[in-house]
Amino acid sequence: MNQAPDKPYEILIANGVNLDLLGRREKQYYGTQSLLELQSYLETKSKDLLNKFPISLSFFQSNDESQFLSELSKPWDGAIINPGAWTHTSLALADRLAALRLCFVEVHLSKIAEREEFRQRSYCAVHAIGTICGLGFDSYLAGLLALALHLEKTKSEPKASPN
Ligand code: DQA
Repeated sequence: MNQAPDKPYEILIANGVNLDLLGRREKQYYGTQSLLELQSYLETKSKDLLNKFPISLSFFQSNDESQFLSELSKPWDGAIINPGAWTHTSLALADRLAALRLCFVEVHLSKIAEREEFRQRSYCAVHAIGTICGLGFDSYLAGLLALALHLEKTKSEPKASPN
């Protein structure tokens, strides 16, 4: 199925467990700004920088894994996903991403390569088109650009249906 010419790509920005605490939790890793500020940063910057790409952003955060999995299952064209700690623990999330064949970029605010051993493993990354971390809010913005470029490049290819 091809993307209709004027229809924007429906993109989900999904933040998982504990990302509701942005601005209050470990500021040395996650900065001083809140989740709402992240949302408004992405809305503004994506209009400025990605205005050539037809995208429509939706935002979702949950600490409830079941709700998170359900949200991912809606018919998105693509997603930016920061699973928080589920990155390193959740086979359920990884299995859902594999089954959905959702086109997504995994992002992290912090530079996880410089952090604890248990953060070095992502169960989800293998299903992502790529991973961006360590750039704070700009991990999401860079992820969005990469995702939009990928969607444009592959728009004439048949869409993967869930496994
Ligand atoms: C995080 C990194 C994870 O290891 C951590 O559990 C988080 C946030 C990040 O954005 O840097 O909750 O995903």
